[in-house]
Amino acid sequence: MKTESAVQTAPFGGRKQSLIEDARRERSGGSPGPSRNGDSFVFEDKDGMATVNVLFTLSNEKNAGFFKTGKIFETFEAKLLHIESRPGRKSKNSLADLEFFMKCEVHSSDLEVFINSLKRVAEDVRSVQEEKVPWFPRQMKDLDRCNMLITKFDPDMDQDHPGYRDLEYRKRRAFIAELAFRYKQGEPLPSVEYTAEEVATWREVYQKLRNIYPSLACRQFLDALQQLEKECGYEEGRIPQLKEVSAFLKDKTGFQLRPVAGLLSARDFLASLAFRVFQCTQYIRHSSAPMHSPEPDCCHELLGHIPMLADKEFAQFSQEIGLASLGASDEDIEKLSTLYWFTVEFGLCKQNGAVKAYGAGLLSSYGELVYALSNKPEYRPFNPEEMAVQPYQDQTYQPVYFLSESFEDAKMKLRRFSETIKRPFAVRYDPFTCSIEVLDQPGKIQNALSQVREDLKTLLCALERLSSS
Ligand SMILES: [Fe+2]
Repeated sequence: MKTESAVQTAPFGGRKQSLIEDARRERSGGSPGPSRNGDSFVFEDKDGMATVNVLFTLSNEKNAGFFKTGKIFETFEAKLLHIESRPGRKSKNSLADLEFFMKCEVHSSDLEVFINSLKRVAEDVRSVQEEKVPWFPRQMKDLDRCNMLITKFDPDMDQDHPGYRDLEYRKRRAFIAELAFRYKQGEPLPSVEYTAEEVATWREVYQKLRNIYPSLACRQFLDALQQLEKECGYEEGRIPQLKEVSAFLKDKTGFQLRPVAGLLSARDFLASLAFRVFQCTQYIRHSSAPMHSPEPDCCHELLGHIPMLADKEFAQFSQEIGLASLGASDEDIEKLSTLYWFTVEFGLCKQNGAVKAYGAGLLSSYGELVYALSNKPEYRPFNPEEMAVQPYQDQTYQPVYFLSESFEDAKMKLRRFSETIKRPFAVRYDPFTCSIEVLDQPGKIQNALSQVREDLKTLLCALERLSSS
């Protein structure tokens, strides 16, 4: 077996959580989709209802056609959302005819019969089904609704979880989960008073990983870890609190943390990245298995993810994946989750002629970190199109790892890949209002362009000053 030598030193303890699997479950209907009320632009086929635009022409004689049309709407329980009328333009009797535009919600299964019924009483009936775009958060406070948990790996549900038979551990987990459930965006982050047993688990993980980081982790990770140790209380004897880590990240890259009770759905997790918000667990793995956790825990987040999120290029890369996910189809969410898996979780990069790790799944797992950099697995160049459909491994180590030339290069390639995601609009993050701008109208695009022009003017002015001094 390829993993032999690494397995001897640090056996792999079992499967890992994966956003990709969650995305697949959502696609196959294994868990409820993000069915939440949208606003004027965003639609989704909710509870079997379809939103449709219907255009038709009615003869103005005695209004009979109008009443018959109304009866059809009543029969099919079509909910009228918008109505407009104007003098007919196409018909021969244009002065006597009226053209109607109606937007309505109707049962998807009735759609065809509904339209056919309208054709019996009206002329020139045309219908356009609204393009379905899943709900996504527009403002930071909307992240309070991005809370769909995947419970398949938690100690209450998973009989293979190391904490399944430990009722005390499960009670502790429920207590910490409650802190996350109660949290609302903008509130102070909750603190957890960790027990001596929890700190001992942290110490074991910290010591073991800290020893191998200098030779295996990328430069950005090592720089940030050093700063975290100096400025943010990272050390083997205490588990850092979310509050202090979030403040540290905010200063470095604008990223901030919010507590989460467990593994989130892929769509909700990726959406929060668009706001530079990282959903972070606060509990720690079971003390009987310090080198493995089937779900993300504070060792994985604080050691694997946080140092990388303190790097500007990597933070930008993470946000780009989040932005690409907003309003994307379930199929594209699965591709983005796979991309996330092979980069943010298990990514490798080239630095000074050597291969180094930047993925959090590697940097928080002693066994796989050693294995990934042992020259045993297959390495392939960073290619989002290939990575997005690459079969992944959540039962043991990855058979293949992707090597980025640099985060800048990875970001540019990701941007090109994001352009292939089918959406009837583009999105942009507004850092002043901490909200997502949906660029779906010429006016909005014009406004965004003028802002970019203003920024360019400032940069040109700075260049001129430099060259004249
Ligand atoms: Fe992770």
